[in-house]
Amino acid sequence: MEPKKLVVFGYGARGHIYADFAKKYPELFTLVAIIENNPERIKDAENNYKDIPIFSDYHDFLKRKMAADVVAICTQDADHKEHAIAMMDAGYHLLLEKPIANNEEDCKKIYEASIKNNSRVIVCHVLRYSPFYSTIKRIIDEGKIGEVVSIQASENVGYYHQAHSFVRGPWKNSKESSPMILAKCCHDMDIIRYLIDEKCISVNSYGSLLFFNKEHAPIGSAEYCSDCKCKDCIYNAQHLYLETDAKMFVGYFTNGEINNQNILKCLKHSDYDRCVFKSNNDVVDHEVTIMNFANGKTACHTMAAFSKDIYRDIKIYATKAQLIGLMEDNRIEIKYFNGENEIVDVDISKANVGGHNGSDYFMMNSLYKTLDGEKAPGVTYLDVSLESHLICFAAEKSRTNNGMTVFIGK
Ligand SMILES: NC(=O)c1ccc[n+]([C@@H]2O[C@H](COP(=O)([O-])OP(=O)(O)OC[C@H]3O[C@@H](n4cnc5c(N)ncnc54)[C@H](O)[C@@H]3O)[C@@H](O)[C@H]2O)c1
Repeated sequence: MEPKKLVVFGYGARGHIYADFAKKYPELFTLVAIIENNPERIKDAENNYKDIPIFSDYHDFLKRKMAADVVAICTQDADHKEHAIAMMDAGYHLLLEKPIANNEEDCKKIYEASIKNNSRVIVCHVLRYSPFYSTIKRIIDEGKIGEVVSIQASENVGYYHQAHSFVRGPWKNSKESSPMILAKCCHDMDIIRYLIDEKCISVNSYGSLLFFNKEHAPIGSAEYCSDCKCKDCIYNAQHLYLETDAKMFVGYFTNGEINNQNILKCLKHSDYDRCVFKSNNDVVDHEVTIMNFANGKTACHTMAAFSKDIYRDIKIYATKAQLIGLMEDNRIEIKYFNGENEIVDVDISKANVGGHNGSDYFMMNSLYKTLDGEKAPGVTYLDVSLESHLICFAAEKSRTNNGMTVFIGK
């Protein structure tokens, strides 16, 4: 087994995961270069990978014509088109972070470039590889629940995750990054499409930015939490980043040591200290999307910020049974119409490896196999990933047009 040569383009949160994976599993991947242009992150990469060339400009990397099996594109959504096409034109295969790009036209351009260059592009739809959804897929493929007729799924974003990522953070503004349905839910649309296994024909969607806006700002609140007297506000930044699960996000604004004193220092007057009711956010905080698939199959997806925990759940209505699943608990129950209910065992022995409940681990394994010419579980190429993105673009078009029916591909 020869390890595959990996280049990480964008050594941020996601880039770290892939670089660390290569370090941890040298039999699968060898990290051969990092492309990163942020001075702090370059320093971080230099500390972690002393013998690996680090390029601050990707053109310099291209000039070197380095041998590599795959480039992981881990820059921000709006940069994917430029970076992905440049790498494919240079002959590299891609592991492309989702979303493919932040608008339909750019997604299609990336797709065309992949055809022109004969590039293999695997989009990081990590959920497909999770023990939870891969078990559900296996159950469906085995015919245990009959034919899937309808799916109801929900994505419970978590109030503090919404505040961090979609009100104060990188995905707060649809023009600067992506609409919420794409940034947060393209995974879910991909899973629904994967499990229903039919083409989506049309979409209706409704949703709004109902809460995180000026109308809901407490009387007398300041622009920044550190200057605000409303210290019992649920969204007080100092409280969120020091005392709740939002601690996991402090890497987005801290430099240097992670301790309370440094967190507070770096937080003060940063974007993450802004009042959640006075940020320049425009993405929705709740959205319901209804999908009509070929052969009369249907699905409904709800995304909402307003949950205490971050979790996904799913109900699959099939001709022989109903399947009910809760991803974060890895709990799957099948309620057979003519038999006893069954709690299905989900193998979570690898769930602590990498992020996303082990999904990153399985995705990288599948990537290895694919680069090695094997058919790997869960892997699909850009044409199928594009379909799930088209569902998201159709949903956004519908939502911004009072829920009108949008036909996919028309
Ligand atoms: N698969 C998933 O579940 C998942 C989860 C989170 C984020 N994402 C996606 O992954 C991507 C990266 O997200 P992130 O949270 O790691 O972001 P990030 O901002 O932490 O990382 C992006 C990195 O790219 C670097 N960069 C930007 N432009 C560059 C350039 N021209 N040359 C070199 N480096 C450059 C930045 O300095 C930064 O370090 C996004 O598209 C995001 O939507 C996917």
